[in-house]
Amino acid sequence: MARGRFITLEGGEDVGKSTQIRLLKDALEGAGVTVVTTREPGGSPGGEEIRTLLVNGDTHKWEPLTEALLNYAARHEHLEKVILPALNAGTWVLCDRFADSTMAYQGYGHGMNREVIRRLHRLIVGDIAPDLTLILDMPVESGLARAGVREAHDGQGEDRYERMGHDFHNRLRQGFLDIAKKDTVRYEVIDASGDIGAVAMAIHETVATRMKVAF
Ligand SMILES: Nc1ncnc2c1ncn2[C@@H]1O[C@H](COP(=O)(O)OP(=O)(O)OP(=O)(O)O)[C@@H](O)[C@H]1O
Ligand SMILES: [Mg+2]
Repeated sequence: MARGRFITLEGGEDVGKSTQIRLLKDALEGAGVTVVTTREPGGSPGGEEIRTLLVNGDTHKWEPLTEALLNYAARHEHLEKVILPALNAGTWVLCDRFADSTMAYQGYGHGMNREVIRRLHRLIVGDIAPDLTLILDMPVESGLARAGVREAHDGQGEDRYERMGHDFHNRLRQGFLDIAKKDTVRYEVIDASGDIGAVAMAIHETVATRMKVAF
């Protein structure tokens, strides 16, 4: 049984990650690929409990290192209980955020020592890495405007990071672009400012080319 492919979608708040992951799943399934979608922080029962600690409440409630540790605790559960078993069974895993979000949010956003994050990553994740990471990129103002629309519609909360201010979100965006620049084999930056169909087309073309699958 061939190992499944591991694809992650990354980017700032409300750039369309969850929307696009659903569309990518549908397209791949249409081509006969077995796919599971999942998300971080969370993705496993214990990981989802940790998620609630991270995405709700006061913006200053955690030290950056605590946030990084909580993310990696959730990630360990996620890898062991969901991601690795699926990949080993030949299922493709599409993950809404993964380790690059920890580097972008805690490293670039909160200014945490990036070498500490890299060491934590080596310890917990080792050499497991996505086959492809799509960085959805758009100006911060447009993403946060979409966030406002979504909040008005579903009122789900989970807005702790959305409330962190413009400078924080700009550091995040630059962080993701910086991460992508260092490894053009694994990363592809996708212009997420177009309409949903245009962004989906760019993503599906990239996945088809990079993962050598027709759909
Ligand atoms: N290309 C697009 N153009 C306009 N609106 C969009 C586009 N993509 C998504 N949206 C809308 O923007 C909002 C945020 O999209 P979505 O939830 O997919 O983003 P996200 O990156 O998953 O956000 P979060 O970081 O909060 O999880 C939703 O209301 C969605 O319908
Ligand atoms: Mg989302």
